Amino acid sequence: MHTMIRFSMKNFRFVIFIAFLVWPSDNVSCIAKQHKHWRHRKASVSMLETDANSPTTFNVLRYGAKGDGIADDTKAFEEAWAAACGVEGSTVVVPSGSVFLVKPVSFSGPNCQSNIVFQLDGKIIAPKSSGAWGSGLLQWIEFTKLKGITIRGAGIIDGQGSVWWKDDNPVEESDANNSSEDSQIYADAAGGMPSTKPTALRFYGSSNVIVTGITIQNSPQTHLKFDDCTGVQVFSMSISSPGDSPNTDGIHLQNSKNVIIHSTSLACGDDCVSIQTGCSGVYIHNVRCGPGHGISIGGLGKDGTKACVSNITVRDSSLQNTMTGVRIKTWQGGSGSVQGVMFSNIQVSGVETPIMIDQYYCNGHKCQNKTSAVDVSGISYQFIKGTYTSKPVHFACSDSMACTGVTLENINLTPLQEKNQLEGPFCWHTFGELRTSTTPPITCLQRGDPSNKQVHNNGDSC
Ligand SMILES: *[C@@H]1O[C@H](CO)[C@@H](O)[C@H](O)[C@H]1NC(C)=O
Ligand SMILES: *[C@@H]1O[C@H](CO)[C@@H](O)[C@H](O)[C@H]1NC(C)=O
Ligand SMILES: *[C@@H]1O[C@H](CO)[C@@H](O)[C@H](O)[C@H]1NC(C)=O
Ligand SMILES: *[C@@H]1O[C@H](CO)[C@@H](O)[C@H](O)[C@H]1NC(C)=O
Repeated sequence: MHTMIRFSMKNFRFVIFIAFLVWPSDNVSCIAKQHKHWRHRKASVSMLETDANSPTTFNVLRYGAKGDGIADDTKAFEEAWAAACGVEGSTVVVPSGSVFLVKPVSFSGPNCQSNIVFQLDGKIIAPKSSGAWGSGLLQWIEFTKLKGITIRGAGIIDGQGSVWWKDDNPVEESDANNSSEDSQIYADAAGGMPSTKPTALRFYGSSNVIVTGITIQNSPQTHLKFDDCTGVQVFSMSISSPGDSPNTDGIHLQNSKNVIIHSTSLACGDDCVSIQTGCSGVYIHNVRCGPGHGISIGGLGKDGTKACVSNITVRDSSLQNTMTGVRIKTWQGGSGSVQGVMFSNIQVSGVETPIMIDQYYCNGHKCQNKTSAVDVSGISYQFIKGTYTSKPVHFACSDSMACTGVTLENINLTPLQEKNQLEGPFCWHTFGELRTSTTPPITCLQRGDPSNKQVHNNGDSC
């Protein structure tokens, strides 16, 4: 009887929670709602704590965590995890009302039972002292090799990144320098922090991963990363860091398949979502991006590498004051392909360049002209609307390997301020179809296919 009441209360809370996240809502009210929600969850802590004696619930406070934001709670988290790891469907509880200082930590399978829940209602903060990071680490909190892992709750993961951001020479984007996944990001960090900046929360080699409810903020570098994961759901959560924080991607996907991201607000200093090689079956909808650099596929093919990305959908989303809107970027000299991408119903406001394909992506390096390229084909844009501040459309495709199958329909992009003298659409070696008239007219798109499109089945096909 008791249990049933608690369950219906939980459902009720869930309904309220969803109601808070109803789309769209402006930033201010969104933050206000989160605060409200935070208080709401606090009030219900005692309920969660009645679960404390359940044999499947492992509260970090019971493993000695202080939760005062000063003491090092890493060991308590590790021990709670070790206990939960042995029990199928167990829950690690990080209760609300406390702040836990946690050093770099790995919650690792592969010997764990499946379907573990990490119930995060409190706040976890990263150490600010350089000593905690040794000579530099690629991530702060890591979950690896798990079958079924859920992070949920109203809690916050705060990377306290400002101590890492004071670069003398910030690299412009996370893939600026040595882009191979998990490569080190070099910058002359001030404050004695190591030059390698960690991702705040990373999932590796896992299946059925869910991240919901939580906020990840102020990461030193990427906020949330999935590498080599299958079956990922990210929803009703938010990511937040300042627009001028260097390299702070929102969500970074690599070698991951069947990914859904929705009803999520992303504000950061780099790509809101970055889709890298090895990704397919990615569906993103009802996402808000800004500030940030937009939703991007790439940079792919750096240093002659092969990249394969396919079946990506981004729809019913909005971008505010971002550098680009929806973008595909590849380095010269790469191979492989980007195939089957749909951008649909995207609302932009004050975005520098809403639509971009750049096969000459170079990002401040000294890039030489190369003949090979990552083949870009089957890219459709429909219902892309709103305002831009620099150029509505920029398609810079490879001299040797044109972009093909680029279709555009119902594009309506206008300058943010009429008085501005702005550039018109640009296309280079871009082939496809205009399915409707567009605003502005995109006359530079070439119809059909190039006569000399290379046949590139030279072992590089994906
Ligand atoms: C990356 O760039 C930094 C300068 O920003 C340079 O010192 C470092 O050697 C570069 N690393 C690689 C691997 O290119
Ligand atoms: C990337 O960096 C790693 C080590 O930081 C280095 O071993 C590797 O050669 C670099 N790759 C390129 C292409 O610069
Ligand atoms: C493409 O991805 C979606 C998920 O976004 C998936 O449902 C669909 O089956 C995939 N299509 C193909 C042909 O793989
Ligand atoms: C690459 O090609 C462009 C145009 O074809 C040319 O303007 C540029 O100088 C070339 N760059 C190099 C480094 O050769």
